Amino acid sequence: MHKHHSALGLATALRPVQPVTLLRPHAAARAARFFVEKFPGRPLYAVKANPSPDLLPILWENGVTHYDVASIAEVRLVRSILPESTLCFMHPVKAFEAIEEAYFEHGVRTFSLDSIEELDKIVAATKGAEDLTLCVRMRVSSDHSKLSLASKFGVELTEAKELLQRTRQAADALGICFHVGSQAMSPQAYVQAMDKVRAAIVQAAVTVDVIDVGGGFPSIYPDMEPPAMEAYFHAIHKAFESLPVSYSSELWCEPGRALCAEYASLLVRVERRRGDELYINDGAYGALFDAAHVGWRFPVKLLREPESDVRDIGFSFYGPTCDDMDRMAGPFNLPADVQPGDYIEIGMLGAYGCAMRTGFNGFTAGERVEMDDEPMATMYVIDDEPATAVPSNVITL
Ligand SMILES: Cc1ncc(COP(=O)(O)O)c(C=O)c1O
Repeated sequence: MHKHHSALGLATALRPVQPVTLLRPHAAARAARFFVEKFPGRPLYAVKANPSPDLLPILWENGVTHYDVASIAEVRLVRSILPESTLCFMHPVKAFEAIEEAYFEHGVRTFSLDSIEELDKIVAATKGAEDLTLCVRMRVSSDHSKLSLASKFGVELTEAKELLQRTRQAADALGICFHVGSQAMSPQAYVQAMDKVRAAIVQAAVTVDVIDVGGGFPSIYPDMEPPAMEAYFHAIHKAFESLPVSYSSELWCEPGRALCAEYASLLVRVERRRGDELYINDGAYGALFDAAHVGWRFPVKLLREPESDVRDIGFSFYGPTCDDMDRMAGPFNLPADVQPGDYIEIGMLGAYGCAMRTGFNGFTAGERVEMDDEPMATMYVIDDEPATAVPSNVITL
């Protein structure tokens, strides 16, 4: 793969016709090392955020040994690329055959569940295995997060007692997991969830071996500047220390977005301008699903030499397909003189963006190139400073 030093240089030298995915392996490596060194427990990478075969070895080489997989295809993928890794199947509703294959063919021993039916299914599919780590997923609030995960999965506190007690009997190790929703903007999200976990443990009076605080760790986007990552780690550590769990119990987390958001950005070309609407060559069916469907605003930069000195205005984007729905409302702030033929870099697309790309309407992914410049923003500055409660290491957009 080619290595480039700047998106501007790439755009002016190559003038690519198709969108180009810009990969920053050093940014993913830095995020992985940060979690491995500073999270007060074990980070599991949530593969769904970006299952790229280029990315998985980077995380592995930087100390991420455990992977949260949520489909049998993800199990097979990670097992084939990282044969030594530990896989945890953290989808609470799985096909019987997927559990069976994961357990017997791929060595998966950790599964999540949020119902008695799923517990029975796991026990049957593993033929009553006695070496299972079973994590009961609790429903917690998504109030502090930008994308809710509070409806679909998770047992309510009022129904957790029986499920925890039954799971305890079937499991070698019992875990409790939750997800506070993606892009959690405050560490309080985890503190409140841990309060619920405490209540569940007390009510069921069971010994718990694993507390898994899930994903939700944030990245930086326009108008979404979270506190520093250490503030999350500190709050989680404090809450974990106060839980009624045994001295040997483990703390896990499942970051997706936080480990890969900075890994990739996208170089697009403007094909047409209509007022403040730009028709670009990638969109809702490409890497911009979240921009289109949940109104996510990604950072943008006009790549033109000499730089435009015209003031910024807000633009919306249309993607390349024929659908009206292929529209990203933004606003995306760019110099008011953007023209067809200009190139734009759209940043912070390593999480979910690249993973959700389709080939709809014939618009497929273009080239992938490696960059050695910095992403548009970073949550990670690795230095020798001891972690404090609220360090100011966030580089803003
Ligand atoms: C079970 C589970 N864990 C982890 C994640 C990763 O979440 P995030 O990308 O917000 O860190 C998800 C995302 O949907 C999830 O469903």
